[in-house]
Amino acid sequence: MERLNAAALADIENIVAKHIDQPGPTIEILHEVQDQLGYVPFEAIQKISEATGTSVAEVYGIVMFYSQFTTEPKGKHVINVCLGTACYVKGAQQLVDQVERLTGAGVNGTSEDGLFSLDATRCLGACGLAPVGIIDGKVYGNALNDPAFTKAVKKIIAEEAVEEEIVEEKAEEKV
Ligand code: FES
Repeated sequence: MERLNAAALADIENIVAKHIDQPGPTIEILHEVQDQLGYVPFEAIQKISEATGTSVAEVYGIVMFYSQFTTEPKGKHVINVCLGTACYVKGAQQLVDQVERLTGAGVNGTSEDGLFSLDATRCLGACGLAPVGIIDGKVYGNALNDPAFTKAVKKIIAEEAVEEEIVEEKAEEKV
């Protein structure tokens, strides 16, 4: 298992300390760890267990129960595609295929470059907009036929490529 760096461990300790005196701190801590680190590492589960007196198994059970928590690091950008019945009928599978082709991320997985995660979700309660896709929290209705959806993914790819170039240039300048 890959070990967390000291900064991430310190973040977890601060988050635990911030919420420990609140009622029902476990969920609050888990939410903030997920938001800040992009996932809930095992070290966080251990710390929560120690601080709250809840067993590791119980905290782990909570993480597994709620779909908003994940124990795997997410990509920098998260794309959700609803695979509920209405969306499926309206072409959600084709939307998934399209996102896979564009990003290189498989369903419920992360692209090798760490840029994108593609998560299949259950019905989002917006069936009138089927098929629904969400990019970094922004909802796109009729996403299979809405060029704005594909454009938004391509824009992220282009922006990330520019950012990468700048980082490389800076690294070369230092040499
Ligand atoms: S099935 Fe996709 S929003 Fe309901």
